[in-house]
Amino acid sequence: MNHKIWCRRADELLQKMTLEEKIGMIHGAQLFQTAGVERLGIPPLKMSDGPMGVRQEFEAASWKSVGYSDDYVTYLPCNSAIASTWNRKIAYDIGSVLGEEARGRGKDIILAPGINIKRSPLCGRSFEYFSEDPYLAGELAAAYIHGVQLWDVAACVKHFAANNQETERLWVDVDIDEEALRQIYFPAFYDAVKKGGVYAVMGAYNRVYGEHCCQSEFLLNQVLRKEWGFDGVIVSDWGGVHDTEAAANSQLDIEMSVTDDFDDYFMARPLLEKIKSGEVSEDTVNQKVKRILLLMLRLHMLEDAETMDSGKTGSRAGIPAGRQRKSGSYNTPEHRHKALEAARESIVLLKNKKRQLPLKPKQQRRILLIGENAQQQHANGGGSAEIKALYEISPLMGLKSRLGGNAEIAFAQGYCGKAENPQEQQKTNWQEKSLENGGGTQQKSTQAGTVHADAAAQEPESQEQESTEKRRKLREQAVRLATSYDTVIFVGGLDHTYDCEGNDRADMVLPYEQDLLIQQLLAVRSDLIIVMLAGSPVQMQAWIDKADTVVWSWYAGMEGGNALADVLLGKVNPSGKLPESFYKTHTDCSAHAVGTFADEKTVSYREGCEVGYRYLDNHQIEPEFCFGHGLSYTDFAYSDARLDFEKKQVLCTLENTGDYDGSEVVQVYVRKKGAKLFQELKGFAKVFVKAQEKAEVSVSLEEMQREDADVAYCIGSSSRDIRLMIIPDR
Ligand code: BGC
Repeated sequence: MNHKIWCRRADELLQKMTLEEKIGMIHGAQLFQTAGVERLGIPPLKMSDGPMGVRQEFEAASWKSVGYSDDYVTYLPCNSAIASTWNRKIAYDIGSVLGEEARGRGKDIILAPGINIKRSPLCGRSFEYFSEDPYLAGELAAAYIHGVQLWDVAACVKHFAANNQETERLWVDVDIDEEALRQIYFPAFYDAVKKGGVYAVMGAYNRVYGEHCCQSEFLLNQVLRKEWGFDGVIVSDWGGVHDTEAAANSQLDIEMSVTDDFDDYFMARPLLEKIKSGEVSEDTVNQKVKRILLLMLRLHMLEDAETMDSGKTGSRAGIPAGRQRKSGSYNTPEHRHKALEAARESIVLLKNKKRQLPLKPKQQRRILLIGENAQQQHANGGGSAEIKALYEISPLMGLKSRLGGNAEIAFAQGYCGKAENPQEQQKTNWQEKSLENGGGTQQKSTQAGTVHADAAAQEPESQEQESTEKRRKLREQAVRLATSYDTVIFVGGLDHTYDCEGNDRADMVLPYEQDLLIQQLLAVRSDLIIVMLAGSPVQMQAWIDKADTVVWSWYAGMEGGNALADVLLGKVNPSGKLPESFYKTHTDCSAHAVGTFADEKTVSYREGCEVGYRYLDNHQIEPEFCFGHGLSYTDFAYSDARLDFEKKQVLCTLENTGDYDGSEVVQVYVRKKGAKLFQELKGFAKVFVKAQEKAEVSVSLEEMQREDADVAYCIGSSSRDIRLMIIPDR
């Protein structure tokens, strides 16, 4: 479609609109919807959260769920899980499921994916984001966006920019070197715009260089529009706007918020008045409305320009007469299958020292599963990423249904969460109150993992004692049972009390006294299989040296339990790789060791570009499990590294020397002599190789140049398992 024709169409519509009508289009008229202009056939813009599926319907002006029975959806693996697949095709497929379901639910913009860099493992929204590495995050985001937008739905990447913590999230000012901003925190957004062609961007709650991101001259005008040429729509985070003039004069297009006083939003009546009094020019609004109309044309929401030109007008408002807008669909068997495929590829085999996995037939007869996460449902938590899942297969259900009636699968709870989950209590109005108290807290507790900074969420002492006592009993029971089964699998980790919007963890310690339980279980069962299920890394020091077998699963969507069973039973050979460093403890992370996390209203990113493995590698700090790590049931041998400067490719031969077919992620890290960073990921390819067979692998490296002096191309199975290195002759 010709952009010029669209622009003309948008201009024509704009000329017919009153100022009031224009203003109606640039702010929320409902919690997830703007106003349309019915007389001109302009529909409202309908939005919904992602990223793990399309969120349930809320009432127009209150955060009460309408309680429909038809808004259950496909619950997708979280973005950390998608990133763990290191598979662009999976990212595309999951984006496509989300786009199709969003359209199926009648949405125009899906508020996903979240692509902020994981600066700290404590960030409560880590599970919504891809990686600590800008290249990995950008590659996956671009593929994901293409998938979403295939369906005449806009992806909306969030939150631009440097939104890396929940503590004081509405006000915290990020003090950062521009170099780090540009090299670490911008690239995924740049790739979303340039490679992904994203139609919408959401501003962040926090401030950067003193300016609120949603009305920032630097971020929106200078970087996004001028430097990157972004011509899509910029949406504020819900309640991220703080000033009428600043917002109007910035490149922000739509103001959204969490309150129901829609006419009093900064870009509503207050702006109308300022335009009428001449304080703000009407042209600022015209530009915003024009971009919104262009978005509607892109999504085929308006009678399109081709039809106009050929004179065939008169279609129903909002439905294009030329090319029919895609209708979408939700809860299809194909979507569930895509969710299963992604979940399978996302599981990371952290440790398999005695090759205990996959379980041999005689280990499959009598299995004991211990731990609340074996049966816990996670979809309906986490903040705005909550999902009303059509169903959610737990690890217990997955294993039981996979093995059937000939196996005995027992369950012992082993540990329990809080006596009462404060998130559960506050569920109906969580978002309504989300602008209070700076909009974000940090938890206080350590060992017991039960106390929140938010006074309302604190567990009273009596309840704490009750939980401690209950856990002691559950522990004793589990340890007693553990000796009488062929196989014992512990499934623990975190839940959305910890991985949650508006809330950062205080440390990486496992909550609910799980360390103690695991230690006691290992004392009686040295062959304990440990499965960690969480949205962000946990501290494992208390038991990791004694544990031989450790599997990592993220919140892996509705088919997560089946995927886990497939991996444990060897139906699927694990191929996930960590998209972030698993620190031994959070103080090994540069955000905490060098930077400050949140100091009243300012956070200093003093670590600069040394984020994640970039810091660990520079300072030779051992992580528990490094960036890019993930084992397989088979072994891969790397040989014959080559460079092709014309095609900008690094090549090698990969041989599967074991007995299982499997996929390997071939990772290319570039080391430059004299550079500030030891190495950086610059390319990767996921390759399937049958047992005992070989494959030729080519990894594209956009930045590869023959002239580059003193560059080493390192090909590895993880950031710390480099198998081949080439230093080209000059
Ligand atoms: C979150 C956004 C979300 C929005 C709408 C905000 O609290 O930060 O990610 O899209 O709410 O629910």
